[in-house]
Amino acid sequence: MKETPWWKRAVIYQVYPRSFADSNGDGVGDLPGVIAHLDYLQTLGIDAIWLSPVYCSPQYDNGYDISDYRGIDPLFGTMEDMERLIAEAGRRGIRIVMDLVLNHSSDEHPWFLSAKSDRESPYHDYYIWRDAVQAEDGPDSFGRASWKWVPEIGQYCYYQFSEKQPDLNWANPALRRELYDMIRWWADKGLGGFRLDVVDHLGKDPELGVKVKGPRLHEFIREMRREAFVRPDLMTVGEAWSATPEEAKRYSDPAGSELSMVFGFDHMKLDQAPGGDKWSLAPLDFVALKRSFAHWQQTLYGRGWNSLFWENHDLPRSVSRFGNDGRYRAESAKLLAIALHGMCGTPFIYQGEELGMTDPDYVLEDFRDIEACNMLRDHRAQGWSEERLLTALRARARDNGRTPMQWNATVNAGFTDGEPWVRLCPNYTEVNAASQLGQPDSVLACYRTLIRLRKEIPVLTDGDFELLLEEDARIFAYRRRDGRSELLVLCNFSDETVTNPIGPELWPGDKSCRLLVSSYPEAAHPASGPEACLPQYLRPWEARMLLKQNQEPDRKK
Ligand code: GLC
Repeated sequence: MKETPWWKRAVIYQVYPRSFADSNGDGVGDLPGVIAHLDYLQTLGIDAIWLSPVYCSPQYDNGYDISDYRGIDPLFGTMEDMERLIAEAGRRGIRIVMDLVLNHSSDEHPWFLSAKSDRESPYHDYYIWRDAVQAEDGPDSFGRASWKWVPEIGQYCYYQFSEKQPDLNWANPALRRELYDMIRWWADKGLGGFRLDVVDHLGKDPELGVKVKGPRLHEFIREMRREAFVRPDLMTVGEAWSATPEEAKRYSDPAGSELSMVFGFDHMKLDQAPGGDKWSLAPLDFVALKRSFAHWQQTLYGRGWNSLFWENHDLPRSVSRFGNDGRYRAESAKLLAIALHGMCGTPFIYQGEELGMTDPDYVLEDFRDIEACNMLRDHRAQGWSEERLLTALRARARDNGRTPMQWNATVNAGFTDGEPWVRLCPNYTEVNAASQLGQPDSVLACYRTLIRLRKEIPVLTDGDFELLLEEDARIFAYRRRDGRSELLVLCNFSDETVTNPIGPELWPGDKSCRLLVSSYPEAAHPASGPEACLPQYLRPWEARMLLKQNQEPDRKK
């Protein structure tokens, strides 16, 4: 039988290095800062770190605009620091997953400098050019037009993100070979895998007006799998905003011809107005959220693999978006953790999520992100009021998740001795790692428990998924079974106390029932027995994860 790959039992932690920990007082987080906190991550129990880009970059998009794929930006440290990070993490059983931004480079990359200076340059064809553009060419992903006039060469250049990020021409085999060489070179440093930025854009075809899911997309991914991801233990996860569950199945086919898994974003689109973009806010459609999770879970079960996440560096904080970041901050942060970590797939935790970090109270001047700045300029021009702009940015801007990591209650949350590159979230005096370490009822302790359970309880990795109470407007409940045990996850996504709707027909009383974890204090004292498992009421934002053994006695006692 084929061995289960490590990443199916793993929990991965995303580090956004610029906001994680600053070691040299320049106000920007760096690699020595990550190394200094490896013990914290080891205690948390994670298996791998996904490191957002640390390559050389002019930093217009915080490193997602790369000017040297084989160099470390001095802002973050040196190649020696990077190698030390891989080694030090490895010593603690933690793998490093690097971010690959292959859809575009920086316009300051030597390839682009050569490409725009000479049509005969071999690098000219590394990018996508036109002599004239048509009126119907749509906007880029950050809201602008997607062809830029390059006067040096007298042509328009194609880009999908910012003007500083010209698209690479994947139709050119020489470019693809060069990228695959680079990936192998990194893998040889002992990496655990790669996260592929906007992977669904690689097969774009500007002539056809196609940005995502282009005609050659899967051909390119399969080629990259063969040529670049040569080590069979590499974990690969592609960012694919456009993926449906059916497409995710193809990307993550267990035969292994493409990727380990993708990040799908359907669950991030259910609180925006239909047909609108991310700035058109609407109340969350909770029933649709549950159905979306169920659809992904069931489509991929046994036929692909899910990633599980609420947060990353492009999203607002989950407790502010899906929970209650005021009175029930800790309870709802734990509930979100339990709701997510009970499902089938590989959970990803974004730095600070394990503390229940919230969105900050920014005013318009505080936003730094290129996307937020473009949005402000364009929507102001369209006549949006200052109030409407602020509401939209506070709800959706990527800056929300990029405030410095809250290590402790000292100045700048222990993130830097200098002037932080971006304003902190003011609640760090209360919400921080130091105050939660050693606290059994903390959000942090809940994450530690969930990570440990994933290693101990096979049904978390192997069980199927059944959504219960599909129409309930407040309760998210599901059951997982693997033939030997059954898991029930029950979450009250509301500020009210509700009658527990799970009766004996859904979860027959059973002596073997154990409460594994909950979002209320008794989490620290796992109880057993049917009454302890299923209370009559669920308190606000109460979540419970229960386990029952079917045939065999529980070997883990
Ligand atoms: C991805 C990254 C995001 C970046 C964009 C362009 O969506 O996660 O941060 O701006 O790609 O590279």
